[in-house]
Amino acid sequence: MKVFVIGIAGGIGRRLAKALIARGDEAIGPVRRPEQIDQLADHGVPSIQGDILTMSVAELAQAMHGSDAVVFTAGAGGKGGPAATSAIDGDGPRKLANAAALAGVRRYLLVSVFPEAWRERHMNDNFEHYMLQKKKAETELVRSGLDWVILRPSALTDDPGTGMVDLGLAQTHREIARDDVAATIVDLLHAPEVSRTILEVTGGSTVIATAIGAVTDPSHESR
Ligand SMILES: NC(=O)c1ccc[n+]([C@@H]2O[C@H](COP(=O)([O-])OP(=O)(O)OC[C@H]3O[C@@H](n4cnc5c(N)ncnc54)[C@H](OP(=O)(O)O)[C@@H]3O)[C@@H](O)[C@H]2O)c1
Repeated sequence: MKVFVIGIAGGIGRRLAKALIARGDEAIGPVRRPEQIDQLADHGVPSIQGDILTMSVAELAQAMHGSDAVVFTAGAGGKGGPAATSAIDGDGPRKLANAAALAGVRRYLLVSVFPEAWRERHMNDNFEHYMLQKKKAETELVRSGLDWVILRPSALTDDPGTGMVDLGLAQTHREIARDDVAATIVDLLHAPEVSRTILEVTGGSTVIATAIGAVTDPSHESR
């Protein structure tokens, strides 16, 4: 399987690319800074220089040519203010969907966020704007007609992965290691029966493959 990853130099993105390559798949995606190409190559991850904001839909479609799936795991990360959040988190996923449709790539996994994430912390206006943009992106992908999966991870950590998660249509928001999000994405990409659904994932107590099995087969043992 060849996967085109937007955000491939990011925390989840590079873990995802490395995990895909480790299991014999291919991963590639655009990075904004030339030095990131060498940094990823040091880990055996190929990339191209590109920015989803400046690449046209046709250029993105060309770049993903031959891919079996696309993953959007980019984010402004609070840098650049609300305009950057709107452009990357809000509009980026739709642009990627348009490019995927043009390139004939049907499978699309969007990394989103729990709607109730950190509500108890009474976050600032920029965070609320981020949440609105993530929901906008979800809504547009759901309408795209592609073979989409939206994965909402809870708060991300750089702790080592455990290989165990809680995954389902609704979960309690806690924390999850980026390693475990990446591993979940790998297994979801290889589970074509999981399609057109929104899943929430957080650190938990179920082996990832078992948790994914339980999504499509409720009789599957999930604990
Ligand atoms: N942080 C959390 O707790 C949390 C919780 C739930 C969901 N999420 C979501 O999880 C996803 C990944 O999180 P993460 O921590 O892995 O993010 P990250 O480390 O900030 O990585 C995001 C990547 O996106 C890239 N990017 C930004 N704008 C781009 C553009 N215009 N074109 C190409 N690439 C671009 C960044 O490039 P540069 O390296 O050039 O900056 C960066 O490498 C995000 O969508 C985020 O909203 C985060």
